[in-house]
Amino acid sequence: MTDLPGTMFAVVQTHDGFSGTATGPGIDNASEWLAPAELPLPEPGPGQVLIRLRMASVNPSDLHFIKGEYGQPRVKGAPAGFEGCGDVVAIGSGAEALKGQRVAFVASGSGAWAEYVVTQAQMCIPLRPDISDENGAAQIVNPMTAMAMVDIARSEGDAFVVSAATSQLGKLMCSLGRDLGLKPIALVRRAETVDALRELGADEVLVTNDPDLPEKFAAISKTLKPRVFLDAVSDQLSEQIFAAMPNKARWVSYGKLSAEQPRLTQMGQLIFMGKRIEGFWLTQWMMSTPPADQIRVVAEVQARFADGRWKTDVSTHLPLRDVVSGLAEALKKTDGKVMITP
Ligand SMILES: NC(=O)c1ccc[n+]([C@@H]2O[C@H](COP(=O)([O-])OP(=O)(O)OC[C@H]3O[C@@H](n4cnc5c(N)ncnc54)[C@H](OP(=O)(O)O)[C@@H]3O)[C@@H](O)[C@H]2O)c1
Repeated sequence: MTDLPGTMFAVVQTHDGFSGTATGPGIDNASEWLAPAELPLPEPGPGQVLIRLRMASVNPSDLHFIKGEYGQPRVKGAPAGFEGCGDVVAIGSGAEALKGQRVAFVASGSGAWAEYVVTQAQMCIPLRPDISDENGAAQIVNPMTAMAMVDIARSEGDAFVVSAATSQLGKLMCSLGRDLGLKPIALVRRAETVDALRELGADEVLVTNDPDLPEKFAAISKTLKPRVFLDAVSDQLSEQIFAAMPNKARWVSYGKLSAEQPRLTQMGQLIFMGKRIEGFWLTQWMMSTPPADQIRVVAEVQARFADGRWKTDVSTHLPLRDVVSGLAEALKKTDGKVMITP
């Protein structure tokens, strides 16, 4: 590590543990949860690598996390951020295969919103040269989730429902669904996105503030019989959609973009119609899916990005040193990811 600096710039968390709140991923002022810091350069331990950051993506999970509302506790003073891409500049024992490689990574040792990141070698995917840094920085969390969840949908029939379909993950799932011959039914908040979603692969697109939505969805549900609802919003409207789905429908909640806590109004459907409510978390999927299957998924993900079937829409490039002051404003832009650059 002789040619590396002794310290690095990072954006660190200012709170520990969980907050006990459930306010959703929206933020007005990042300085409530984050601060700039100069930290000693982290060292990779056995099985770990040190990565010089090229780009980190801002996902809703990062925002839930810094607010103390995610599935793992915050660590005060540790860099924030889960996902990005960069160059492996130092390795611990057992990680020799990654030496010098450009990799996509999920940060496990220290966070991604820093000039340097330590993570496990298993949390890195070497990137093909034809994958851009923008696609590389969003190569794992959303694409792997899209592959895993569309697989769930496919196991239950042709049609499936996707909420927040203008999200990066929603778009990936609509186009993957279409490519597999399935019929994605997309729910969006903004009417102006309907045509773009249809072009991407949605068979039907419904706008959530349309007063006729219940009747329109009921008619579509009767015809297409969607059995899986892949839901990132998880609010009262989600409950109504689920209630209008046919026998044996599965409501798979994988995100909590809305702060509203839904009330269950049709408990009898769980008993008499065999309906189910469940969750999906990529972390659990990775722990329970055999490595050979995961390798196949990774290869398919890279192939889809390399040949242009998938792409990451980027709204803004935000310099790392401007994250605390500029993140809230940068997140106001719709239709794309905020990408942090060192
Ligand atoms: N469980 C898992 O393993 C897993 C893995 C990956 C992602 N996720 C979840 O997947 C979801 C999408 O992630 P992403 O990275 O694709 O998001 P993204 O690209 O950052 O987009 C989020 C979009 O959701 C829409 N949205 C925000 N608040 C909303 C609300 N209250 N109601 C309806 N729509 C709302 C907005 O679109 P408009 O402004 O166009 O409406 C926003 O652009 C998130 O909830 C994330 O946490 C879960």
